[in-house]
Amino acid sequence: MTTADRIGGPTGSLVVDDIGSLITNDPALGRGPLGIVEQACVVIVDGVVEHVGPAGAVADRRIDAAGACVLPGFVDSHTHLVFAGDRSEEFTARMAGEPYDGGGIRVTTDATRATPTAELDRLVRQRLHEAHRAGTTTIEIKSGYGLTVADEVRSVQIARAHTVESTFLGAHLLPREFEGRADDYIHLVCNEMLAGVTGAARWIDAFCEAGAFDADQCRAVLEAGRAAGLGLRLHGNQLGHGPGVQLAVECGCASVDHCTYLSDADIDALAGGDTVATFLPATDFSTRQPYPDARRAIDAGVSVALASNCNPGSSYTTSISFCIALAVREMGMTIDEAVRAATTGGAAALRRDHIGHLAPGAAGHLVVLDAPTHHHLAYRPGVPLIRETIGPLGDRS
Ligand code: NIG
Repeated sequence: MTTADRIGGPTGSLVVDDIGSLITNDPALGRGPLGIVEQACVVIVDGVVEHVGPAGAVADRRIDAAGACVLPGFVDSHTHLVFAGDRSEEFTARMAGEPYDGGGIRVTTDATRATPTAELDRLVRQRLHEAHRAGTTTIEIKSGYGLTVADEVRSVQIARAHTVESTFLGAHLLPREFEGRADDYIHLVCNEMLAGVTGAARWIDAFCEAGAFDADQCRAVLEAGRAAGLGLRLHGNQLGHGPGVQLAVECGCASVDHCTYLSDADIDALAGGDTVATFLPATDFSTRQPYPDARRAIDAGVSVALASNCNPGSSYTTSISFCIALAVREMGMTIDEAVRAATTGGAAALRRDHIGHLAPGAAGHLVVLDAPTHHHLAYRPGVPLIRETIGPLGDRS
């Protein structure tokens, strides 16, 4: 398979020209860690960046950025898009003081199980369209609202039909019918359910949290996934301190997601391992959790990413721009760090090196802003600044 096959997108050559400020994320190409080039153009041939240079190159097709900022498409490494139903009442109650405990996952599971496959697929497409309009060009999609063998297999297959970054999250929450029999459920996840998703899932994930699954149960899921050839990821430290982060590092997970509560030992483990800490600030916003201290993690040398966690309970947004603004305002990240975390950070969390940057040979996935610089993503929160998103989402990105 060639790089162009892997990346997908339009064939032929395309120049995005008259770029006022180009974020390449390659310090060898431009200024600072973001590799910023002014008055630039990007030439893309068969979906792959061929050339980055001064404005004025010629190609089959031309998009005029008219002095605006262009950056790599966002890499959203954590979503739960395969679901049906609505939990706006739960959100409303939470805004009136109710706590979030993850129990609403069962509400969405009931709705998802009851929804025909074609309708679930339509809902995923609709959400992908929304994400693409908001600048996301690569997306990870989890199962986790099926929680039976048939419903999890169906969810993973729907995810896989839209992205290669498909994740099996059978260990999301104990389904009602297994109440008091968590180990039996974990046995099902590690055996029949896992066997059913093999071939369609790239990743396996588990929710390591008081009220969900403990460290031993999650370790069993991760080890079974590894044995089946899947890459590993983990939800950890969302609602309180716990073993998730250290378990993820110990198991060599590509990413541990949430990381809202980080102890010194968690930070040390992350800094010494190769697991990315993926922050999901829209979740902390929507659940009224405290925001994680990303500054502390970055200063300790931790690799970080930002993702949307789009799901109907804890974070019903596909907007990475919103996540960037929150990370800057609430988590101590600079704008440059937040933009990197949402692009190269997401790529690292998915262990992909051809996305998240715009150097020759990389995927030609990019975003043209309605703004002169990337600073506006945080400076103008809530404003739809994505003028155009170029490149995949939804086929094989
Ligand atoms: O990442 N933490 C677990 N799963 C989702 C919550 C899903 C829900 O509430 O429906 C999350 O926040």
